[in-house]
Amino acid sequence: KQIAFSAIQPSGTITLGNYLGAIRNWVTMQNEYNCIYALADLHTITVRQEPAQMRKNILDAYASILACGIDTEKSLFFIQSHVHTHAEMAWVLDCYTQFGELSRMTQFKDKSAKHADNINAGLFTYPSLMAGDILLYQADKVPVGADQQQHIEITRDIATRFNGLYGNVFKIPEGFIPKNGARVMSLQDPTKKMSKSDENVNGCVHLLDSPEAIMRKFKRAITDSEAHVHYGEGKDGINNLMGIYSTITGLSFEQIEHDFEGKGYGDFKTAVGEAVVEELRPIRERYESYIKDKAYLEECYRKADEIALKISSRTMNKVMKKIGFIL
Ligand code: TYM
Repeated sequence: KQIAFSAIQPSGTITLGNYLGAIRNWVTMQNEYNCIYALADLHTITVRQEPAQMRKNILDAYASILACGIDTEKSLFFIQSHVHTHAEMAWVLDCYTQFGELSRMTQFKDKSAKHADNINAGLFTYPSLMAGDILLYQADKVPVGADQQQHIEITRDIATRFNGLYGNVFKIPEGFIPKNGARVMSLQDPTKKMSKSDENVNGCVHLLDSPEAIMRKFKRAITDSEAHVHYGEGKDGINNLMGIYSTITGLSFEQIEHDFEGKGYGDFKTAVGEAVVEELRPIRERYESYIKDKAYLEECYRKADEIALKISSRTMNKVMKKIGFIL
């Protein structure tokens, strides 16, 4: 079986974008791949975190992702900071990553504009920490949303460069970016990606939102003045709603256009909202029971942490030896 690796930052709540762009594929890939998933908590401290809130976010995210359908019998789901090879590999890869290529990362440019008071070195070297995550497990496929494409590319570049120097150490991974759902946009500004940091609360649907909140957000979604449900240029709002609806229901865009022929945007927004409510309902219910059982959550991640350390240590040792360290 091929290996799939991916991770998510436990910074605040998980969004419908995270779910449709990535986590949903993490779940389906479990049947075909050896899946290894992580909570990328080391990545979150590139932005200042409040300690108590951070602890809560990590457990919440762990429970939420289990609730999405990650099966710990089939897949590894561990906490990045518990597996020390990640920080070690990040340092090593920092020394094989160029200042110039990190400077070209659009996420660094965006984040340093947004957090101008804290443009720390970690924010800059974030891609080599992420590259290490992936390369430690010799992953074949990395299921992510479209916003991570550039990070996958730099991972491939770093790995190829390292292999060029020392022989075949790393598997060169490929992104696994869905055709549909890879870029869920804000419901309030459909030219921007849906993000937990959206200032407008109605722009972002959270995994654990109540059905009422979800319906309200979809009913208020920004569309256009045409009132005709079809995919097209200048129809970012409707295109986004069609993308969400199609990802969840599996209906093609043509089918959706056909089904909503002669109907207004109100009907369509209600249908999309209801589809999202039904998709997220069982997740919220499972989350409620997982989050009450901290002992179970701990049992799950401790077991996974240990196995992740074993697997990743093989690559780490190989890398250290190749470079010239004495082991
Ligand atoms: P993060 O935590 O920002 O997002 C987690 C996943 O959700 C996807 N995503 C979206 N997909 C579609 N539409 C959106 N609006 C949307 N917003 C987010 C992201 O593409 C991602 O797949 N650096 C990563 C975490 C990470 C990682 C890794 C990923 C750390 N190490 C190794 C893969 C492999 C991040 O910040 O994702």
